[in-house]
Amino acid sequence: MSNPSLLILPGDGIGPEVMAEVRKIIDWYGAKGGLTFDVTEDLVGGCAYDKHGVPLADATMAKAQEVDAVLLGAVGGPKYDNLDFSVKPERGLLRLRKEMDLFANLRPAQCFDALADFSSLKKDIVAGLDIMIVRELTSGIYFGEPRGIFEEGNERVGINTQRYTESEIDRVARAAFELAMKRGKKLCSMEKANVMESGILWREVVTKVGEDYPEVALSHMYADAGAMQLVRAPKQFDVIVTDNLFGDLLSDAAAMLTGSLGMLPSASLGAPMANGRPKALYEPVHGSAPDIAGQGKANPIACILSFAMALRYSFDQGAEADRVEAAVEKVLADGLRTADLLGEEGVQPVSTSQMGDAVVAALDASL
Ligand code: NAI
Ligand code: MG
Repeated sequence: MSNPSLLILPGDGIGPEVMAEVRKIIDWYGAKGGLTFDVTEDLVGGCAYDKHGVPLADATMAKAQEVDAVLLGAVGGPKYDNLDFSVKPERGLLRLRKEMDLFANLRPAQCFDALADFSSLKKDIVAGLDIMIVRELTSGIYFGEPRGIFEEGNERVGINTQRYTESEIDRVARAAFELAMKRGKKLCSMEKANVMESGILWREVVTKVGEDYPEVALSHMYADAGAMQLVRAPKQFDVIVTDNLFGDLLSDAAAMLTGSLGMLPSASLGAPMANGRPKALYEPVHGSAPDIAGQGKANPIACILSFAMALRYSFDQGAEADRVEAAVEKVLADGLRTADLLGEEGVQPVSTSQMGDAVVAALDASL
């Protein structure tokens, strides 16, 4: 069997800085952790525009379609703000998402005990929290037709249309059930079947898909009740699957239960490839942070945890994902903080590379 393949796209700003720390972990796996990846590195975003005149070259796009997983840093920056819309750095990321047809957006909300004080909720409500929100990303009200602002009588009317086909619901539900199988085997589907026909169909199709996953305990909740439950008792959930609009809101709310932008990973998954692995793009939620770029201040943990997600969801290495997450937990428990995580008096921040080195040392200690 050939080694699993990874395409690494560090991008702009702090992207390359945080990705350098992930490279240390990938190298650690090759040298000591018994996992060798075939890694290719390429350009995306502003740096790709500088070299090729486009934010994502065709050859890079083709490579992304071939590999087992893509890991991206961040794109964009003030230098590119005045570029034509068609070649803006973000267009590179959008092209990847569109051409890989990444319809399931995964946003975990995971609380590390050492950072539980960062939460806006009481410590005991979030300590140990580990949930995953799966948001449908390529359909729903952001795309449905008709849409627009129209004249109607003597006033205007703004229209957007929530529209889901059975196959669109089926595929995101299946992705969510697959994740639930790799986690706590609990899935809660959220819609508004009480007031929306698309919600009725959503509930029906998710229930039907559930027959293929008898081991997963499936429940349904109206999305507004779900929002309440998320802030009241978030630990009752394991995986949540929901549509594009509700998922946009619920995933942002859930992410903030746990604190800093520098800690938040994400993944976007598409259809299974010939080898059974889903098309996959892993990236931190944060952007290129031009205000701190080049200063060694960026927190690499969001990118490191994105790699841990790749281990779990693309490479079936759940135990190794646990190992990386435990290493992060340990360095935080030891008191290491990048500047974005400072709260306590008298704590000196560590640099991006010191944080990465500490995670690697914790991996060493785990053997
Ligand atoms: P941002 O996420 O880059 O930064 C927001 C704030 O959080 C800044 O103060 C930044 O210093 C801080 N921050 C972000 N990541 C951090 C980390 N790892 N460690 C420590 N602090 C961190 O969002 P912003 O400022 O709105 O956008 C900056 C640029 O990034 C823009 O060009 C924007 O278009 C782009 N962007 C790219 C994204 C992507 O590549 N997926 C997502 C969001 C924005
Ligand atoms: Mg949002």
